[in-house]
Amino acid sequence: MTYDHDPVTTQAPASGVYSAAARRFHWITVGVIALQIPLGFVMTWRGNTMNLWDALTNGLYSAHKLIGFLLLWLIVGRLIYRLLHGAPADEPSLLWWQKAVSHLVHWLLYGLLLVVPLLGWIGVSLYPALDIFGLFKLPALAAPDEAAAARVLAIHGWLAILMALLIGAHVAAALHHHLVRKDGVLRRMLPGLPRA
Ligand code: HEM
Repeated sequence: MTYDHDPVTTQAPASGVYSAAARRFHWITVGVIALQIPLGFVMTWRGNTMNLWDALTNGLYSAHKLIGFLLLWLIVGRLIYRLLHGAPADEPSLLWWQKAVSHLVHWLLYGLLLVVPLLGWIGVSLYPALDIFGLFKLPALAAPDEAAAARVLAIHGWLAILMALLIGAHVAAALHHHLVRKDGVLRRMLPGLPRA
């Protein structure tokens, strides 16, 4: 099923679940982020805090850059899909403010999922540190400027922390719906449902 309505505001019929494609996008994003955020913390801890610039640290940086670059295109695809197909109507038992907060968190997450990898790519372009495993370089988005790189990468790191906090709130809300309120919110996004 696709949702034939204005993608951002009006919604598909109540009782809908997210389409198979929307759920696939969601859970692939979860897997990639679950890898990428710890990777970012471990590599900067080894490099910046411990000053350990060995093959492992360099490999972790390469993996983080490559995963972030691929994540950006995944999110572009996910956002295009979302804007074209919309989302099912809100779970009917939600109060107006709960709907508003959930929409706000979802759109903030989409924004951060786009902006955080983009800032990472701009940061490594400015540094410049575009090498991936000594095999190839990412395309540069800006001319070298090390001072600007430090600023951009600091913002990248802070926004990644903000994203992790929002994800924590988002997961807590999903679990609260499932375990305490026992409504259908989590089921709408679970994999393995019949094709929607
Ligand atoms: C990397 C972590 C995660 C990110 C970035 C993320 C992001 C998102 C986004 C952007 C949406 C909005 C979908 C849309 O309407 O287009 C969404 C929906 C949803 N997510 Fe997540 N999510 C994450 C982890 C999780 C986890 C671990 C759970 C479950 C425990 C979960 C449960 C849900 C549910 C149930 C919805 C649908 C909510 C509704 O129907 O109103 N998410 N997620």
